[in-house]
Amino acid sequence: MKTKHDAQLFDVKKYHRDVLRWYEVHGRKTLPWRTTRDAYHIYLSEVMLQQTQVKTVLERFYFPFLETFPTIEALAKAPREKVLKAWEGLGYYRRAGFVHEAAKAVVAQHGGQLPRDVEALIALPGIGRNTAHALACFAYGASVPVVEANVKRVLARLLGWVEMPKEKNMWEAAQNLTPKNAEHSFNYNQAMMDIGASICTPKAPDCKACPLESHCAGKGAPENYPTAKLKLKKAALPVREQVVLVLEWHGHVAMQPRESALLGGLWQFVELEAGTKSWQGMRFKKTQMKGEIRQIYSHFERRAQLVHVVLPQKINLPTPLQWINADERQNLPFSGFEKKVFAAFL
Ligand code: ADE
Repeated sequence: MKTKHDAQLFDVKKYHRDVLRWYEVHGRKTLPWRTTRDAYHIYLSEVMLQQTQVKTVLERFYFPFLETFPTIEALAKAPREKVLKAWEGLGYYRRAGFVHEAAKAVVAQHGGQLPRDVEALIALPGIGRNTAHALACFAYGASVPVVEANVKRVLARLLGWVEMPKEKNMWEAAQNLTPKNAEHSFNYNQAMMDIGASICTPKAPDCKACPLESHCAGKGAPENYPTAKLKLKKAALPVREQVVLVLEWHGHVAMQPRESALLGGLWQFVELEAGTKSWQGMRFKKTQMKGEIRQIYSHFERRAQLVHVVLPQKINLPTPLQWINADERQNLPFSGFEKKVFAAFL
């Protein structure tokens, strides 16, 4: 594929100089995962940042998680529920499961040290090429490119990609642009993410402020890049309708741990098929219907008709349901949906 970074067209030396100078002045150099070389800290930040904004990770999750699990060994040894609790509110809970599994594998297979080698990192649970590159570069000084969603867009514009190349070709092009020197590749990759987040934005990119401007193939019409493929509107999420039964007895609620791949280990109320009118022989009354709660997840939208049944006395619950009191609730992990239910009437 012919791109603008072909040797004669692209002055790579000047390009590096422009990006690195810009980073010195404008880069977010004080982010805590940029001032450390601790591979575990960097790994955690990269996973948290996969689907979450810097501000949220920085202000609410990164430090408390590290306080709860200061080392990868501590994380590996922790019960799943405690890991999920530390992830509560961050969303995309599969990440918490992967971080936990990866920590166990690092302790079992690598003596507690995240490996330096990209392929060994990719072999760990939940680590894809981009996270592996981020770790290899930011913790160990490897000259490998970091190409998250923002950087993909920057590259598409910079190199004038009308269509996104195949993954392999994209990584190759990104690799060709990455400085060889460890310090430079660190700053370059961090700079590219900053440029993507703050200047080369999807709408109204600020080309005048961009250190890549003189190199950029897309600067005349940046919004034409990336291509239609990347810009395709996301398909509407499938809707999962159900009845959620909040069964209460004297300050206790009936709950159980979820088993799904996505939200496994988080606790849930009794979830029934949409339209269900009774449970365990108990017919729901009109006055027990409390309206609908909606929650959007990565792969579906939950729309739940809430039923709130307050029992005068304790009943035996079928397993795996348990009666949970307010104290126990403090320590269990819930997704945003359950939090909405608690907020609604508990
Ligand atoms: N997103 C993913 N990795 C990041 C990093 N190191 N800094 C800022 N945003 C990021």
